Amino acid sequence: MTTTKAYKGIAMEGIIASWYAKTTVKDLNRHKLMARQMAKLIPAHGKVLEVAPGPGYFCIELARLGDYQITGLDISKSFVEISRRNVAEAGVKAEFREGNASDMPFPDDTFDFTFCQAAFKNFSQPVKAIAEMYRVLKPNGTAVIVDLRHDASPEEIEREIKGMGLGRINEIMVRWTFKQMLLKTAYSLDEMQAMAAQTPFKKWTIDTEGVGFQVRLEKQA
Ligand SMILES: C[S@@+](CC[C@H](N)C(=O)[O-])C[C@H]1O[C@@H](n2cnc3c(N)ncnc32)[C@H](O)[C@@H]1O
Repeated sequence: MTTTKAYKGIAMEGIIASWYAKTTVKDLNRHKLMARQMAKLIPAHGKVLEVAPGPGYFCIELARLGDYQITGLDISKSFVEISRRNVAEAGVKAEFREGNASDMPFPDDTFDFTFCQAAFKNFSQPVKAIAEMYRVLKPNGTAVIVDLRHDASPEEIEREIKGMGLGRINEIMVRWTFKQMLLKTAYSLDEMQAMAAQTPFKKWTIDTEGVGFQVRLEKQA
């Protein structure tokens, strides 16, 4: 059955978006480390697209590391507002637009680098989203997808949650969300492999990292 919903599961609007922004700001280290890792893959002054940036914390940390032209595309009106506010408060430059990962409002060959973290499992048309990353990338551009692995063990999940530095109540809520929602929609490495193979990308690698995986796809010239 095909779905016409732009997202899988609950839409992240209003108080859900605000709760997510307040909870994950305590986990800024994740974004700092990831921004440092990703900056190594981006050319100087490169054009960067973050697909589904949520509150925009990764964009902010990346903007602090170099003179990149950063754009975020999110389906949630609330997150577009929150990320614009967060970027203004941080005093860095990044633009945010409302739109669907599976039907991006950008011309072909626009970006040097696309990044998508903790969001891919929420896309109702994931193969189309990867194909859109290919379309909007310039030749020789790279797309990175980071997300939770379906087979992450209970011990790995617990270690991840403890590392977030949350209070007791938020820790309980995040643990419940992992078990009842996130793990159910998360993909296995084989599923990621099969989806990438249905897109125009010809070259990619998949690595596991803690509770998640990182897929790096290259658009060959
Ligand atoms: C769990 S949040 C992750 C946010 C951020 N990447 C992070 O690491 O904190 C998932 C994000 O995916 C967005 N999203 C879900 N479906 C989408 C779609 N089809 N197109 C664009 N954004 C989408 C949501 O609005 C939300 O911002």
